[in-house]
Amino acid sequence: MINDKLSESVFNRFSNLFNSSPLIVRAPGRVNLIGEHTDYNEGFVLPASIDKEIIFAIAINNDNVFRFHAFDFNETYTFKSINPEVKGWQVYLHGVLAQFEKERVKIPGIDCVFGGNIPVGSGLSSSAALECGFAYGLNILLETNFSPYKLITMAQKAEHEYAGVMCGIMDQFASISGKKDHVFRLDCRSHDFSYYPFAMDNYIIALVNSKVTHELASSEYNIRRKECEEGVAILNEKNSCIISLRDTNPDELLKYKSLFNQVTYNRCCYVVKENIRVLDACGALEKKDMQRFGSLMYDSHAGLKDEYEVSCPELDILVDITKQMSYVLGARMMGGGFGGCTINLIKSDHKDKFQHEITEQYTRCTGLIPNIYFVKLSDGARSLKT
Ligand code: GLA
Repeated sequence: MINDKLSESVFNRFSNLFNSSPLIVRAPGRVNLIGEHTDYNEGFVLPASIDKEIIFAIAINNDNVFRFHAFDFNETYTFKSINPEVKGWQVYLHGVLAQFEKERVKIPGIDCVFGGNIPVGSGLSSSAALECGFAYGLNILLETNFSPYKLITMAQKAEHEYAGVMCGIMDQFASISGKKDHVFRLDCRSHDFSYYPFAMDNYIIALVNSKVTHELASSEYNIRRKECEEGVAILNEKNSCIISLRDTNPDELLKYKSLFNQVTYNRCCYVVKENIRVLDACGALEKKDMQRFGSLMYDSHAGLKDEYEVSCPELDILVDITKQMSYVLGARMMGGGFGGCTINLIKSDHKDKFQHEITEQYTRCTGLIPNIYFVKLSDGARSLKT
């Protein structure tokens, strides 16, 4: 149901601009509890979709033209054919349209207004929400009947081919397949997934936005991917069963250490250990051992900082500050890295104290004022009734 301000505003803007009755779609951003940079290594991740989202009002116009309006920027953009050279938010929409064209779907023109509350550049996957929500809406309007998995892979290809980031599949999976009050463990090789209840009675998830957005994020991301591939190639020479870092373990890596340069070795060590941590974290969730879960989050951060080298001083400060707070169970940087948010597991009765203390200490150390978001876990992309 449309019963919130954001959906109403997007719907009203659509009605002001266009003459038809739109489909309303909601697509969420995501958090990832643990399992960072493992998705493109065929490993495990533990994401969830959240109550920060993009709302779309979409309709077919039968005019053979695409008319988009970005509510948050108050920008309108009209075009007749797909163009891989576009910039900014248009990239993702062109990217998705291109995937439908590749599937030989005839698109008789689209009118679309979208707007949201996922902070851009903060590691909460606003781009995946844009791709997934648009793909989800087109699938309904054009009656293409693509499966959720197909939509996920189409959205991922939009990111690869149009945004130029060779991302894994986690963000798009979370935006489509999340479930309210649950996280899910995704096997990024088989794409099997299972949901784990994540009750937030005693513990809550707080995201702290460092307010740092690093220009290096996408170029370094692609470099990390290559470094992992280099590591796999070395291992594969010795053991042809190893076709991704998923197929090896810390002992085997150590055995072949002399064949690696130190950087590639560190990258591989991190990924192999992070996969083990995700499985341990799922075991901890099953046993409701949140202390253990939190300490795995800290270990994950240490690996991302020292071995995978995708953190930055501000994220490290945010994580270090929490180590003095007895009511924080775990914290780590989240997403691709080099800025964005940390994810923190905290005792729910210390919400206000956390907000106050982390703001005060982070500002004192860096001069930056962080944004804090207490998020709830939500369903993946859905259409809403008007
Ligand atoms: C980005 C990518 C994901 C994943 C994370 C790191 O969010 O889009 O596919 O690789 O970084 O875990």
